[in-house]
Amino acid sequence: MENNIKAYPMKGGDGDSSYTNNSSYQKSLAEVVTSLIGEVVADKLDIQSLAGEHPFRIADLGCSVGPNTFLAVQNIIHSVKLKYQTLRLISSTPEFQVFFNDHASNDFNTLFKTLPSDKPYYAAGVPGSFYTRLFPRSSLHLVYSSFALHWLSKLPDELMAVDSLAWNKGRVHYGGAEKEVVMAYRRQYQRDMHVFLNARAEEVVCGGLVVVLVPGRPNDVPHSECIGNVLFEVLGCCLSDMANEGKIDEQKLDHLNIPIYYASPGELEEIANENGFFTIDRIEGLPRIAEPETMHAARRLALGIRVGVEAVFKGHLKDETIDELFESYSKKLEQVPSIYSSGGASIMFAVFRRNHKY
Ligand SMILES: C[S@@+](CC[C@H](N)C(=O)[O-])C[C@H]1O[C@@H](n2cnc3c(N)ncnc32)[C@H](O)[C@@H]1O
Repeated sequence: MENNIKAYPMKGGDGDSSYTNNSSYQKSLAEVVTSLIGEVVADKLDIQSLAGEHPFRIADLGCSVGPNTFLAVQNIIHSVKLKYQTLRLISSTPEFQVFFNDHASNDFNTLFKTLPSDKPYYAAGVPGSFYTRLFPRSSLHLVYSSFALHWLSKLPDELMAVDSLAWNKGRVHYGGAEKEVVMAYRRQYQRDMHVFLNARAEEVVCGGLVVVLVPGRPNDVPHSECIGNVLFEVLGCCLSDMANEGKIDEQKLDHLNIPIYYASPGELEEIANENGFFTIDRIEGLPRIAEPETMHAARRLALGIRVGVEAVFKGHLKDETIDELFESYSKKLEQVPSIYSSGGASIMFAVFRRNHKY
């Protein structure tokens, strides 16, 4: 089922460079959306028609190792319980079952070891790509996914062919690249989102919700000015410098690309409308949480990016080379603190409700 789908899980365990210890930014966003999720559950989740269904099943897709996933799940359950109370349906408040999903190579051991001891739900791990079917038909009531859907299932094929117009020579991402490269990434994103929505359409009950939090790009900001792209462009420059110094084989660099796409709310809306299985209840960019312009912030940012994309480099570069790369990346970010105040960043919050009509 996972043919061709590439997995680049976050660094597991609880060491200094683990995802657990380098995901406070994602955590702060999960906190920001707490009240939004409360609103969405209160306004859009049709508890009356789900009230007979036990247990209430939640899936977190791309959950990584925690603790952010525990916080998110706890918020969702709190909101659902509150809705039952508000509707005076307390006696039928269901039990909760939570499925923690990520690639099979995710560090599920750390995830399970750190599950809150007082969790008000039954927990299960579901390994596999969310670009495949993961659950039985009509078995989920609320799907959540945060900071995961910007990962493509794979690099666009066009990028891999030396004779293609989208051959991305000397770069690791599409920011500042030829328009063919940008289009190849965009098409891959469109294909992936259709696959994602089709799979969820099978799995989510009618009236059930898919809640997505994902880094993206404001509608009016070109790719080249989106902060995520700018950050990868700077990383690409560090790699080129190292190739020029003979520390990295240039050909290896030509084959190295990061399978991440930053979509705008408009693009996501267009795909969801075309797909048709879901009604878009909400889609908006969240206000940016600005990082202070300090050297410390540059180091933290470099580490955060490293935790996210290191797995992409693993197959191509030696560990010492990766260390050196991120050391020089951190220094370069210190020199361009204006990156932090760039307006081209957006975290997208989107809510899709499974239609009754299909
Ligand atoms: C940055 S982490 C986000 C973790 C957590 N949701 C949070 O908000 O802190 C992204 C996670 O998405 C997972 N992921 C990426 N693509 C995936 C896919 N196709 N299927 C399942 N998980 C995926 C990665 O393995 C990684 O653990």
